[in-house]
Amino acid sequence: MLTTAKIDEIRTRVREWRQKGETVAFVPTMGNLHQGHVSLILEAARHADHVVASIFVNPLQFGKNEDLDAYPRTLGADQQKLTEAGCELLFTPTPELIYPKGLDAQTFVEVPGISDELCGASRPGHFRGVATIVCKLFNIVQPDIALFGRKDYQQLLVIKTMVSDLSLPIEVIGVETVREDSGLALSSRNGYLTEAEKALAPKLKAAMDKLAEAIVLGQDIDQAISDTKEFLRAAGLEPDYLEVREASSLKPVSSDDKSLVILAAAYLGKARLIDNMTLSR
Ligand code: PAJ
Repeated sequence: MLTTAKIDEIRTRVREWRQKGETVAFVPTMGNLHQGHVSLILEAARHADHVVASIFVNPLQFGKNEDLDAYPRTLGADQQKLTEAGCELLFTPTPELIYPKGLDAQTFVEVPGISDELCGASRPGHFRGVATIVCKLFNIVQPDIALFGRKDYQQLLVIKTMVSDLSLPIEVIGVETVREDSGLALSSRNGYLTEAEKALAPKLKAAMDKLAEAIVLGQDIDQAISDTKEFLRAAGLEPDYLEVREASSLKPVSSDDKSLVILAAAYLGKARLIDNMTLSR
């Protein structure tokens, strides 16, 4: 696998492949890779002739009091996992290359509506940062296909909306969440959990299972949400949000909606865990 921080080198490689009529799949990441990221690379290899990944801890999507400086950086181990999974080209730009004019003097990509609620409400500017970096990375790599985890469900919808609104010639594929046996969704931020917190973290998935069951049984959704928040608090997690929405639009549920998604975020010690679950009724 070739690792480069140079835009030209990425472009030259990808151009060579595309000139031969070969397809390119792209997996953007912030590094500290785990089995969830690896599953995106493996899925990418099933969809295209070549797999390109990026590792860039994007300052534009972190709030002022968030964990930008503490975010784990583990390039050597990441390179090994990517190579083993079949990635051929890795882009590792510096913040100066990506944002030469600084973070404030930058053209932004904004996806209105869907960016403003749930994680967007708790983290103002977050999805603007995500959409902007992903759009820039798409323009640098110029892939045919890009893969994102369903673990970050709202992010996946923001990116699909951006691609559609800006007519970007890229197919976006969502990949199933990889979990520990306990049910806990893998996340780079799980590293912030102490051993004791790690034992509590699977309660987030357990809470969503409980809520899903109540909804499928036809119970009142608002009541079920408030019961489930109590369950989380009793387990030692502080809910940030716990909501049920229509699965493709994230709009509030109306009585004839069949495809729903539970979206959850909760604080546990220094970590903020997010997870989601789709269901039909
Ligand atoms: P990061 O958190 O590193 O995640 C990179 C990709 O891995 C995202 O598409 C995310 O949804 C996916 N992912 C994370 N945990 C997963 C799991 N347990 N199972 C399956 N997929 C999982 O998301 C970002 O980086 C950034 O916002 C980024 C899109 C790279 C833009 O900066």
